[in-house]
Order: sequence, then structure tokens, then C-alpha cells
Amino acid sequence: MNIEEIGRAIGPMFGICASEGGRALDVLGLDASAKVLDVGTGNGNFAIYLASQGFEVLTGEPSTDTSTYAGKDWEHNARLAGVRERIRFQAFDASDMSFAEAAFDAVCFFGVLHHIDEAKRAAVCREALRVVKPGGAVVFFEPTPAMLEKIWVDDPTHPLAADPAVYMKPLAVDEVRVQGDFMDIFIYRNAG
Ligand SMILES: C[S@@+](CC[C@H](N)C(=O)[O-])C[C@H]1O[C@@H](n2cnc3c(N)ncnc32)[C@H](O)[C@@H]1O
Repeated sequence: MNIEEIGRAIGPMFGICASEGGRALDVLGLDASAKVLDVGTGNGNFAIYLASQGFEVLTGEPSTDTSTYAGKDWEHNARLAGVRERIRFQAFDASDMSFAEAAFDAVCFFGVLHHIDEAKRAAVCREALRVVKPGGAVVFFEPTPAMLEKIWVDDPTHPLAADPAVYMKPLAVDEVRVQGDFMDIFIYRNAG
């Protein structure tokens, strides 16, 4: 299935993931064999986008998360998109992950950091850098003010965007920012 067909099958958020995800993948230049960690499964849109681009994806969220954004039927969406076999799910809290050091080529947070407790965000960023390979990248996608206005129509309680630089700057990692139409994209390379 192509991007438009998947969008029609699983909903409009997929198109946003695809357009903003494409901007990040253009910068990352990942090998086809890259292992990607998708933090914060939600409806599975971003994991499905990555899988639609041919990557093997591990995705997860805390099993204890009872918010409206967790515990969704992402598997149903992945089957509709025809990419279920490329996505593996494992419950985890990104502030304390069981994955080995340098296990992934890229660690992605699509619309996730602002949903993580403020008190945990510094640990989440340290963990993301620990599990990404030297030369690999940690990527955050956070909603632009215009995107937030759209989100608030359906969910007035949705939190403000987070600024990953607040947590990443103390870790002395180089940052590249890419301006999307819907998301601000923050890319941090693990220099090793
Ligand atoms: C709005 S959803 C993300 C949308 C999803 N990326 C997509 O593409 O459909 C927010 C996600 O953040 C996850 N989350 C919140 N706190 C987390 C944590 N400490 N560790 C990992 N994921 C977390 C939630 O469980 C939920 O899956």
C-alpha cells in the first residue's frame, strides 16, 4: 500500500506522520537494515509509517499508562496497513529501558515527549542516548502552535509542546532542527 492508501485506511494522523517523518528520514539517511525504536506507540501511526518505509520497528509504551493516548489497538491499524510483521511491541517506560547500550540506529518520539511526566524527561533523554548507536540519532517531533490549535479542538486538556533542548543541552549533543508543517523536529546525533 502507498502512503495515501494507508492514510485512507487508518486515518488522517498517518499523513501527518508520513510528511513529517519523511523530513526526518531525509536528514538521517538510515540504512535499509536500520533498527528503529519508536517510543510511545499510541495508535501506531509513526511505527506504521516507519514500517511502511521498510524498517524493522520496535515500539512500546508503559503498560501502566491509562491515559486516552495509550492502550490503543495499534495492531489493527498495522494489519490494515499491511505492515504488522515489521512491528514488534514491548511495554516499557522510556525513563528506564531494558535495552542494551547502542541497540538502535534511531530512537524516535513522535508526539510523545510532552506526554511524559516532566520529572522523567531528563532521564528519558539520557536513556535514549544510551540505547542509540554512536552515529545514530534521537529524534523528537513536537507539535507546532498551529497543530496544537487543531488538537485542542478535540482535546482541550492536551498538554503544551515540550522543548527537547531543555533536557538534551546539558548532555552536550549537537542539535539539528527541521521545521515541519505540523511538527517541530529535533534531531540529536550520538557522537559516540
Ligand atoms: C499521543 S501518543 C503518541 C502517538 C504515536 N506516536 C502515534 O504515532 O500514533 C503518546 C504516547 O506516549 C506514551 N508515553 C507516555 N509516557 C511514556 C513513557 N514514560 N515512556 C514511554 N512512552 C510514554 C503514551 O503511552 C502514548 O503511547
